[in-house]
Amino acid sequence: MSDPVIPVVDLADVSSNDPAAQARASAALREGFGTYGLVYVKGHDVDRAALRPFYDAFRTFVARSEDEKRQCLRADDWYQRGWTPANTEKAVAAGGQPDFKECYFAAPCPRDASNASQYPELYPENVWPEPPVPGFREGYLGLGSALHEAGVKLLVAAARALGLADDTFTRKIEGGAHVTRVLDYLPLDAARIEAGVLWGEEHTDFNLLTLLPGGQFYSPAGEPSARPDDRSGLYLRTRATAENPRGVRVRGSVPEGCLVAQVGQQLEILSGGRFLATPHEITACGVPGWSRLSSAHFVHLAPNELLFPLEPFRDASATAAYAPPVLAGTYDIKTLVDIGLAPRAALDKLGYRHYDRLDSIKAAERR
Ligand SMILES: [Fe+2]
Repeated sequence: MSDPVIPVVDLADVSSNDPAAQARASAALREGFGTYGLVYVKGHDVDRAALRPFYDAFRTFVARSEDEKRQCLRADDWYQRGWTPANTEKAVAAGGQPDFKECYFAAPCPRDASNASQYPELYPENVWPEPPVPGFREGYLGLGSALHEAGVKLLVAAARALGLADDTFTRKIEGGAHVTRVLDYLPLDAARIEAGVLWGEEHTDFNLLTLLPGGQFYSPAGEPSARPDDRSGLYLRTRATAENPRGVRVRGSVPEGCLVAQVGQQLEILSGGRFLATPHEITACGVPGWSRLSSAHFVHLAPNELLFPLEPFRDASATAAYAPPVLAGTYDIKTLVDIGLAPRAALDKLGYRHYDRLDSIKAAERR
């Protein structure tokens, strides 16, 4: 497969009442999510002019002292809000090289109180820097909300593309632990560039759908700048075929003004593998001292939704590939342990955890 063309979905087509427009969006999405696990998205409401001031604000935060940043660190909440230091998260599929990035998490949607009581670490309150960084909170919530809205529209198109009722996926994300992340990929020195260190190891996202608005490079002097060379970028791996059993490595080349939308593991599972959770990686640039900022919004299934192929896709091979069914919240907890953000003890909560009650009753009897 040479020079693949990743389809563009126009959200205006998704919202249109014109059946031909809806069919055009569904066809683009079926091809993009089915073959590449990814589409480009136009017709969205993300304010691209607001991206650079937001990234500048995050750089102001990242430049603060370790002590100041640690006030926003929430290890007890499994880093699901606030600041994540570099070398914390590991990509599971790629042998666990920690990534060279500092991150921040915040949720742009209102918190679901019932889900928060059942899954407290997936629904912490947002954390904001003190003293405030001008423009950071407003820029964050504005970007996250616009990306989420784009995600909701795409999920309508995704349902149509699979021959399902329009609201099949949008019903399942109500009250989900949706979260927006901003990342600062750290400058590498010449030795690390030589060694081929990546900014983000190859992995698949574990949520339902990921929206990426595009990044910004910064020169060693800290100036927002055009990319210094052609080495840095998002690469994805296409679906394995008989011809290409390891898939084909494709560079994401995003048309001006478009978002990128990626299939996560949860959407692959619900679709019985018809949509592909794309393995992707972020390569660093080949010039020492440059950094890159980017952001992503992760749309999640609500935690009590079942993660198993939907009924029309539940054939023998999909059942074998994705059984046993689990709740999305359980899946989230397991994954957060796998990638090093939650402690292993979090898994103990997934079974009975009151065995010590009988022990203490028996001890009392012996007294
Ligand atoms: Fe990712």
